[in-house]
Amino acid sequence: EKGGHDYFMLKEIEEQPEALENTLRGHFSGGGIVLDEQRMTEQDLRDIDKVFVVACGTAYHSGLLAKYAIEHWCRIPVEVELASEFRYRDPVLGRDTLVVAISQSGETADTLEAVRHARTQRARVLAICNTNGAQIPRESDAVLYTHAGPEIGVAATKTFLAQITANYLVGLALAQARGTKYSDEVAREFEELAAMPQAVRQTLSTVDQVRTLGRELADSKAVLFLGRHVGYPVALEGALKLKELAYMHAEGFAAGELKHGPIALIEDRLPVVVVMPSAKGRALLHSKMLSNIREIQARGARTIVIAEEGDEAVRPFADELIEIPAVATLLQPLVSTVPLQVLAAEIARARGYDVDKPRNLAKSVTVE
Ligand code: BG6
Repeated sequence: EKGGHDYFMLKEIEEQPEALENTLRGHFSGGGIVLDEQRMTEQDLRDIDKVFVVACGTAYHSGLLAKYAIEHWCRIPVEVELASEFRYRDPVLGRDTLVVAISQSGETADTLEAVRHARTQRARVLAICNTNGAQIPRESDAVLYTHAGPEIGVAATKTFLAQITANYLVGLALAQARGTKYSDEVAREFEELAAMPQAVRQTLSTVDQVRTLGRELADSKAVLFLGRHVGYPVALEGALKLKELAYMHAEGFAAGELKHGPIALIEDRLPVVVVMPSAKGRALLHSKMLSNIREIQARGARTIVIAEEGDEAVRPFADELIEIPAVATLLQPLVSTVPLQVLAAEIARARGYDVDKPRNLAKSVTVE
């Protein structure tokens, strides 16, 4: 069943290119982005002037990425919130608010209650879900299904990449409805998304390197993850995976925050995973990140750097360099996440833990 793999999670990591292909399929026609279900009018969609994204766990990290895309493409303010916090703080909602609820299972109680609260305030709800006909999509005004297929591993992998893709499709659908992007621009963005399964496939060539690294890091006390811009949610997700699977202290930080606190944690040989922004696309961020790596290396950290192929500037500062294909800035998380998934799984395995069934966790949590 595991297709020759040591654990399901590795199989599901390797299924990510197909998960993306299936999620993209059918969501674009000559006219633009197509949702799976829409019980609100085009005018309703056009009138949206505020977006909240609500989700839990890994789905929440995908939601953080939705903010970068939707604000950039649609010029609407987006807030991303943990579903378990949302309804308890009286958020400002109305008919022109869109609440995007992201849930693999579609049954997570915290997310479902956030959706119900939004609806009592007359907000519109759009669900991104991997499970046909689940409760959250049933109670929503619009639905876009991710087609990642069933996920056995408790820790989300292919559904995370599919959620990111779905978020971007929703961003493009909104941009098209609001007219902030012409249809040829939407088509171009979609083409870039359509090239991502191949880029993810290419990234899978790092699996052996990362598995070896995972075994080397198995005895570490803690691992830190640093990112900037879209690399920041990736750092959070890398840390969450490691906590969930390897029961190891792991934290993700925005690299710009280093000097405001986390740098105090750096000690000799502490592994720090750095997600490098693209050198071409984000030159300023790239140079800022280079100085962050210098700072932590000077304090003895063991630097593990995820960087675009051809990023020569970072080489001298990387104790371990993991190369990913160069892709558009917003799309980098689809490739940079892959080695972090493998790293967490392999550290967990080396520590003797059940990668597919981590202790205390359930695939879907139906109580608040
Ligand atoms: C947690 C799972 O309980 O729920 C996570 O262990 C998941 O992997 C989170 O990300 C949210 O689940 P869902 O189904 O709402 O995406």
